[in-house]
Amino acid sequence: MQAKSFQLFPEAASSIAGQVDALYAFMVLISAFFSLIIAFLIIFFAIKYRHRPGIKPTFKPADDHSIGGMVLEIVWTAIPLAISMVMFVWGVSIYFTESRPPADSMEIYVTGKQWMWKVQHMEGAREINELHIPINRNIKLTMTSEDVLHDFFIPAFRTKADVLPGKYTTEWFRPTQTGAFHIFCAEYCGTKHSGMIGTVYVMNEADYTVWLAAGSGEGSMAEQGQSLFNQLGCGNCHYSNVNNGIGRGPNLNGLYGSKVDLKDGTSVKADESYIRESVLNPQAKIVAGFDDYMPTFKGQISDEGMLKLIAYVKSLGLTYGAPNTATPGTVSTSATAPTAGRPAAKAATSVSATPVAGNK
Ligand code: CUA
Repeated sequence: MQAKSFQLFPEAASSIAGQVDALYAFMVLISAFFSLIIAFLIIFFAIKYRHRPGIKPTFKPADDHSIGGMVLEIVWTAIPLAISMVMFVWGVSIYFTESRPPADSMEIYVTGKQWMWKVQHMEGAREINELHIPINRNIKLTMTSEDVLHDFFIPAFRTKADVLPGKYTTEWFRPTQTGAFHIFCAEYCGTKHSGMIGTVYVMNEADYTVWLAAGSGEGSMAEQGQSLFNQLGCGNCHYSNVNNGIGRGPNLNGLYGSKVDLKDGTSVKADESYIRESVLNPQAKIVAGFDDYMPTFKGQISDEGMLKLIAYVKSLGLTYGAPNTATPGTVSTSATAPTAGRPAAKAATSVSATPVAGNK
């Protein structure tokens, strides 16, 4: 970010920034209006009813509170209530918008650790304390932490979200200006919390494509996830790549985003957290029709490795004869994904293998 003279507000560089600023301005104006009225009245009454020598203070309690008092009570309750409800409803609507990533969002994974941000793009590019993104695209960050609670904050986009260990949180935005903007960690996380900073680079589409291609040497996240999958021997039980489909473990094709029936009669949506839990703590949720065979992989997979595995499992859903179309920038490698050429016949599994279109 270029050196600038003192700025009261960071730049407004995302689609939501204007709305956040408008609400903020409204709240400041309301507060200023009432503060001024109250300050004026204090001074006015202090002067008007001041003690004067020679005049005996009189005190006459009003003998009838019932009428004037009631009207006054209603007025000074109803007006502040109405004003605070406007702030509440307005704030909630912005909050809902900010907490629901659009279905066409481009996904990027972020891992926080003391004291840095690690970023992984689906196409394979990785970066530390930097985030390169194209302008005018919805970007969804899926975030986790390797150690303690952090918080990913981009003031220019007016958005932030906690980043927690053992769990995935999301944050989305649509940048509307090219340039470089600050990233801060907005949750105290130890000695060098204040140094846990970075830069977002918003680029035009062409520059971004060039940048992305240069960093994708190790293959896409899904491809890297597949090698991890093979390395750990997951395919011995999950025959997701193999013709006959079903093994000792459930088939993973089309798993992501689907509803999974469990042994105990309940069901669960196969999202990032479910996949993570099933790898690290397989006993927690046993899929109906299967036994408790799977050992835990706790300690064998890093948080970044887990994100790659999840990207791989997602790619299985994207290419398996489902109406789910890969949006540009999500898994652009699905054409080369390992599932290409799988026979159309789906082996019976207890997993309902019909990903909901657009369900990400
Ligand atoms: Cu990480 Cu503060």
